[in-house]
Amino acid sequence: MKICCIGAGYVGGPTMAMIAARCPDIPVTVVDVNEARIAAWNSEELPIYEPGLDAIVRTARGRNLFFSTDVDGAIRDADMIFVSVNTPSKTYGIGAGRAADLTNVELCARRIAAVAEGDKIVVEKSTLPVRTAESLQRILRANGSGHRFEVLSNPEFLAEGTAIADLERPDRVLIGGESTPSGHAAVQRLVDIYARWVPRERILTASVWSSELSKLVSNALLAQRVSSVNALSALCEATGADVEEVAAAAGRDSRIGHRFLNASVGFGGSCFQKDILNLVYLCEHYDLDEVAAYWTQVVEINDWQKQRFVRRMIRTMFNTIAGKRIAVLGFAFKKDTDDARESPAIDVCRALLAEHAELAIFDPKVSAEAIRAALRQAAGLPEAELDRRVVCGPDVYSAADGAHALAVLTEWEEFRHLDFVEIHDRMKKPAFAFDGRNILPHDALRALGFEVHAIGKPAVPRDLLPVQPDAAALTAGGARLSPRS
Ligand code: UDX
Ligand code: ADP
Repeated sequence: MKICCIGAGYVGGPTMAMIAARCPDIPVTVVDVNEARIAAWNSEELPIYEPGLDAIVRTARGRNLFFSTDVDGAIRDADMIFVSVNTPSKTYGIGAGRAADLTNVELCARRIAAVAEGDKIVVEKSTLPVRTAESLQRILRANGSGHRFEVLSNPEFLAEGTAIADLERPDRVLIGGESTPSGHAAVQRLVDIYARWVPRERILTASVWSSELSKLVSNALLAQRVSSVNALSALCEATGADVEEVAAAAGRDSRIGHRFLNASVGFGGSCFQKDILNLVYLCEHYDLDEVAAYWTQVVEINDWQKQRFVRRMIRTMFNTIAGKRIAVLGFAFKKDTDDARESPAIDVCRALLAEHAELAIFDPKVSAEAIRAALRQAAGLPEAELDRRVVCGPDVYSAADGAHALAVLTEWEEFRHLDFVEIHDRMKKPAFAFDGRNILPHDALRALGFEVHAIGKPAVPRDLLPVQPDAAALTAGGARLSPRS
C-alpha cells in the first residue's frame, strides 16, 4: 500500500504526517503545486504552525514521509490518493460568497484520471459540499482509461491549534463509501489504516453522502453554539449579568456541556462560515427556505457580534477614533495557529480603518506579510494609505506606544501575562482595553487605571453598578425572575 496526498496545507500536512508516523511501513507522499510550500515542508521551518507538528514530521520525514511537487508521479505510484486541496467559497457567478469553489478538486480528479495506470482509491479529505464524491466519481469514470476508481469521503474533524492531539486521539473517524462490494473493500482498507492507532469503536462508517453532510452539520452545530452564546453576551451587557458565569452555569448541565460556550468577538477560521453557507445553499436548492434562513442567522449573529464590538469601541472612545492609534493584540482566528483565514480580526480591523483609526497590530505567529495581505484585500485601501495607517509591531509593548486603546482579538495565552504597568505607561490616557476574548485580568487592569470593556460583562465592576433591576416591578408584570429548576 502506498499513499499520496494532493494538497500540503493545514489539513493534508498534519494528517499525512500522523498517518506516516503511525504506519512506518506505508510510504506517504504529500504533493502540492506550490513549490515554496513543499520546500518549507522539507526544511527546518515548516510552512504552518501547529503545536506538536515538528516532532511528528521529524519522526517520519525521509523515512516514509515525503514532500514533493511531482504531482503526477505521486498519483501514479499510489494505491490510495487523498484529495486535500483548498475549497474556498466562490467569489464570482452563481452562488458567489456561499457555494464552494470546486475548481481545485475538479482539477485533481482530472489529473488522477489522466495519469493513473491502475486502480485507485480516491479519498476526499477537503471539506466538500454534499454530493461532491458523486461528481468526483463521474469525472474519474468518464476520463479514466478503464481503471477502477473507488471514491471515499473521510472528513477532517481536526481543529487548528489542536490538530496533532485531535489526530492522535480523535473523538471519531468517519469514512463514507459506496454500498457495493468494491466500495466496502475500499472502506475496509482505510479503516485498517486508522485502526493502527484509533480504537475500532471510534471508526464510523457510513454512506458517502451521510459522511459528507456530517462534516457540514458538525461545524454548523458548533458555530451555532458560539453564535448563541455571543447573542446572549449582548443581553448580559445590557442587564449587568456576566456571560462567563451564565455559560459556566448553563454548561454544567451535562446535556449542554461546557465546550464552545466562550463568548468572543466572533468565530472565524476556514470552516465555520464556509460550511454553514454551504448548508444554507443546499437547503435553498431543496426549497427549504425556512431552514436556510435559520442557519443564515448563525452567520448573521457572528457578523453582528463583530460590528457590535467595533461600535462599542467607538462609543466608548468619545464617538471618534479618527487618527487614534489602536493596539490590536492577535490576528489569528484563534490561539495556537498562524492561520488568519476568515479571522474576526479582519472584519474588526477593516471597520476600525473605515473610521480612520491607525492600527498597530501584533500577533505571535501570523506574519506581518500575512496581516498586510489580509487587510489589503479586505480594506481596499491604497498601498500608501495602508503603509501609513497600519504597522505590524514586533511585540505588544511597541504596539501599545502612544495607543489610545488595546483590542484583544485572539486568545493567545501570552496576552494574559503581559507587563500591564509598562503598557499603561506607554498608552494615552484614559487607557482603554477592549477584551474580545475575555482573557485579560480585568480587575488588575482596572486597579492600574485601565477602563476595561469585555464581551458579555458589565462595563463597570458589579459592586459599583448603580441600580439592580427591581424584582418587584418585574414580577408584578408577570415575568418570573427565578429559574424554575
Ligand atoms: C473547526 C471544527 O472544530 C473542526 O472540527 C473542523 O474540522 C474544522 O473547523 P477550527 O476552524 O480549527 O475547527 O476551529 P474551532 O476550534 O472549531 O474554532 C472556530 C472559531 O470559533 C474560532 O474563531 C474560535 O475562536 C471560535 N470559538 C470557538 C469561540 O469564539 N468560542 C468558543 O467557545 C469556541
Ligand atoms: P486546508 O486548510 O484545506 O488544508 P490550505 O489552503 O492550507 O487548505 O491547503 C491546500 C493546499 O492545496 C494548498 O497548499 C494549495 O497549493 C494546494 N492545491 C490546491 N489545488 C491544487 C492542485 N490542483 N494540485 C495540487 N495542489 C493543489
